Amino acid sequence: MENKELVAKALSNALDGTLNVEDIINKIERPKDSKMGDLAFPTFILAKKFRKAPQQIASDIVEKIDQNDFDHVEAAGPYVNFFLDKAKYSENVIANVLSQASNYGQNNDGNGGNVTIDMSSPNIAKPISMGHLRSTVIGNSVANILSKNGYKPIKDNHLGDWGTQFGKLITAYLMWGNEEDVKKDPINNLVKYYVKFHKVDKEKPELDDVARDWFRKLENGDEEATKLWKWFREVSIEAFEKIYDKLGVSFDTYNGEAFYNDKLQGVVDDLDKKGLLTKSQGATIVDLDKYNLNPALILKSDGASLYITRDIATAMYRDETYHPAMNLYVVGSEQTYYFKQLKAVLTEMGIPSAKDLHHIPFGLITVNGKKLSTRSGRIILLDEVLDDSIEIAKKQIAEKNPDLPNKDEVAKEVGVGAIVFGDLQNEKINNIDFNLEDQLRFEGETGPYVQYARARAESILRKSGKTEFSISDNKLNDAESWNIVKLLNDFPQMVKLACSEFEPSVIAKYSLRLAKAFNKYYAHTKILDDDDEKDARLALVKSVSIVLKESLRILGVKSPEEM
Ligand code: ARG
Repeated sequence: MENKELVAKALSNALDGTLNVEDIINKIERPKDSKMGDLAFPTFILAKKFRKAPQQIASDIVEKIDQNDFDHVEAAGPYVNFFLDKAKYSENVIANVLSQASNYGQNNDGNGGNVTIDMSSPNIAKPISMGHLRSTVIGNSVANILSKNGYKPIKDNHLGDWGTQFGKLITAYLMWGNEEDVKKDPINNLVKYYVKFHKVDKEKPELDDVARDWFRKLENGDEEATKLWKWFREVSIEAFEKIYDKLGVSFDTYNGEAFYNDKLQGVVDDLDKKGLLTKSQGATIVDLDKYNLNPALILKSDGASLYITRDIATAMYRDETYHPAMNLYVVGSEQTYYFKQLKAVLTEMGIPSAKDLHHIPFGLITVNGKKLSTRSGRIILLDEVLDDSIEIAKKQIAEKNPDLPNKDEVAKEVGVGAIVFGDLQNEKINNIDFNLEDQLRFEGETGPYVQYARARAESILRKSGKTEFSISDNKLNDAESWNIVKLLNDFPQMVKLACSEFEPSVIAKYSLRLAKAFNKYYAHTKILDDDDEKDARLALVKSVSIVLKESLRILGVKSPEEM
């Protein structure tokens, strides 16, 4: 039971039910000074009701309250101060973790409501950038956080698979392309054709007309154009999926921009019906003066739709299909202004989920000081970064634990985990520079550090020869285990906080604190000594292992049993 709940129950009984547990819980405070107890209840809120001085109410309560669950309870002025019984408290917390196992920390705040998460969303025929990596791992973790809070996340990969660039790509492929090359290495070759198009196009601007023509054909469903576009899309997705597999991320839907092509007229009609469209220099716009924003450009003067036209269709589709409790977009902070405009247009249209549309922005990421980009000469590919990281992990493991049987598998879990954790431990909005060697250190604020602490815990548990762990008659009263117990007890609140702020770093930072507390305990305590506290110590270690593993799972990081 939560400590506040324990206190609230005792108070409610002492007050003969005049206040119910829920009302009391919100009034309970955590005194800054531990001399004033672990939790405190202010009595002045009852003065009017009881027509008594708060001091009197406090001492009356202390007189009546059942002190059995506490070390002691005392009145101090208008407060009732509760001092927790550490042994009992620890026993409660540990028993709670052990009985709920990986379900520990689960709540039902979301009531099963759908939450659509627009995430990853790379562009077809281009490499996945580090920005898309961030969107993928942040989105994936936010989805896990939402499930842990009782929501039903729907992960949607809003691929950039439509636009005039496909006219250029088709033109370039037909001139210089080779089927075998594309099959072998799709992204690199498609990028090559695209880059060549732009080079040649400078001298031969008539190529632009050819490209425009191909895009028009594509829009009109021409067989050849459609076949090529579908093929580019397919091979691109296959290449992306290799990376998603490495990261251990999957999606519920791949509804890219093209998916909404047949829904765009509906958007324009709806906007028109609601009187929101105006003409400006031939273009069709929605005025957003009221929001202090630039107008949203819905149709160009030639009638072509835009990124936002497709996003309006997307939001409407999600609304009708999922009736989402929230509609989230995990997209870099450079699109913050754009999402304000999108939200404003949807609000004007009266789309129900508009008020629960949240853009979840994040900062830039560089690797060893280098930016990833598709246009500049040398590009750092995400795939290469992941492979480099796995290689470093492999070397470290070979040194540390040469006899490990499943070295390759563990190297993958550590190498990929280091990158994912390295991203998620920072508040999303910060820019981060990645130094692979640093992220892979087993000491310090890294993913491998947390994985290693958990593997250590598992190794002790294996050595104990036991498979069932339980706690009764607890006698743990050292400072190190008390520290761990308090952290274990915090986990459910961390799960809630991470959700209300869409912030995986809350869980990552928490897991570092718990791993650190555990390592301290491990260094100071002979866990496997045969005395009558051994079972309690093992139960504590098992609880730590459960919560570290669950924290890492929420982040999308694997927990090797041994490393
Ligand atoms: N494809 C876009 C890009 O790479 C991101 C799409 C974000 N999602 C959205 N619904 N606009 O910049």
